[in-house]
Amino acid sequence: MIQLQNRRILVGISGGIAAYKTPQLVRLLRQAGADVIVVMTANAARFVTATTLQAVSGRPVRNDLWDPAAEAQMGHIELARWAELVLIAPATADRLARIAGGLADDLLGAVCLATRAPIAVAPAMNQVMWEAAPTRRNLATLVADGIAVIGPESGDQACGEVGPGRMTEPESLLEAVVGLFEVPPGLSELRAVTTPPGGSLSGRHVVITAGPTREAIDPVRYISNHSSGKQGYAIAAAAIAAGARVTLISGPVSEPVPAGAALIPVESARDMHAACLEAAGDCDLFIAVAAVADYRPKTAADRKIKKSDAGDVGLHLDLVENPDIVASVAALPRRPIVVGFAAETHDAMKHARAKLTRKGLDAIIVNDVSRTDIGFGSDSNAVTLIWAEGELTLEKQSKASLASEIIDRLAALFVRQLAHTNPENVAH
Ligand code: PMT
Repeated sequence: MIQLQNRRILVGISGGIAAYKTPQLVRLLRQAGADVIVVMTANAARFVTATTLQAVSGRPVRNDLWDPAAEAQMGHIELARWAELVLIAPATADRLARIAGGLADDLLGAVCLATRAPIAVAPAMNQVMWEAAPTRRNLATLVADGIAVIGPESGDQACGEVGPGRMTEPESLLEAVVGLFEVPPGLSELRAVTTPPGGSLSGRHVVITAGPTREAIDPVRYISNHSSGKQGYAIAAAAIAAGARVTLISGPVSEPVPAGAALIPVESARDMHAACLEAAGDCDLFIAVAAVADYRPKTAADRKIKKSDAGDVGLHLDLVENPDIVASVAALPRRPIVVGFAAETHDAMKHARAKLTRKGLDAIIVNDVSRTDIGFGSDSNAVTLIWAEGELTLEKQSKASLASEIIDRLAALFVRQLAHTNPENVAH
């Protein structure tokens, strides 16, 4: 299938045993229609020959920053400009460190530093090297820089050990590359990263609001809505699975609390407002899933209102506006990334975009609550994620799987900002 017609892919090869698989990768990329230039490091040439790669790529292989003839034809800066994607397979521990450190003392390093194209790496190394602290630090840097990390796989290793560190197979790498190019404009950051060690939100503090609020009319009656808490609780569970420390600020619901979440139960919008402002102090990502009552009765009667109290004129409730919780968090001087939800019955996108701006949010997730098969109370949901530069529709699925997708997307979308929010939250 021609999925990469005329795509210009620079394949970098660093010096690891998995380099023997790279000619097959290059063949697959070419078969998919891509134009491929191979850049090898000196150590890569110990594992695979330039002749083989020239044959499969159909172009001269580049391996030397100081080759005057090659540089005269297409210098390293032109190579960096030519590429629509730089894919390094295999990427050794040393190569990851070099990219993370911005070293440009060989051709591949110089291209990585000089390119504006997305960079993807397919790590391959011994499992102990993969798990070593410096590699983890380097990976975290690469992910924070928006570099896609594809793999590695777990299994038998060339060194005789078994564990994570095998380069992703060429067929799967091809699929990942096709996926990177399928991203619509403005979405590149959403797919440009994969999970760092410990999870995409490892060491981050995520505060999530969930459920309805109750606004007391008298000691036995209140104003509320149909939120069950299912979506918010599922997002809390997904954030925990992604490595985050989660504070769940919830109105009254009957959902089980996800293991590992710190629950702060609240009743009214004002309770939720106070709890959120306190928790937001050291928060990296704030996700407002709760259906907060916009209004509350001006005064809550301290005794049950009797039918006879209504008299001839009927009973009237004076309502006053509640504080806007998510907007208050977004207005904090040291604000986290702030994501709201929008429950809409009509003109959903228009209203949601207006809320995104009015409330000062980084992103908003739109729910069509006019549908009975999704939204309030249902076990399924379908949403559209909107942020300043783009939008992405996530099709109907269980609230649990949607929650994982939302967390993955948010972690990828805000990877750079999350890397810089409250560094004291990062687990050491
Ligand atoms: O709980 P479930 O049954 O699983 O249903 C999930 C859900 C439909 C409740 C959820 O997916 C959803 O859409 N939540 C947002 C509901 C809502 O109140 O939307 P809104 O458009 O009125 O509010 C916009 C945003 O402002 C929301 O993030 C809300 O939390 C926040 N808000 C609203 C009012 C207010 N006073 N303070 C707020 O922070």
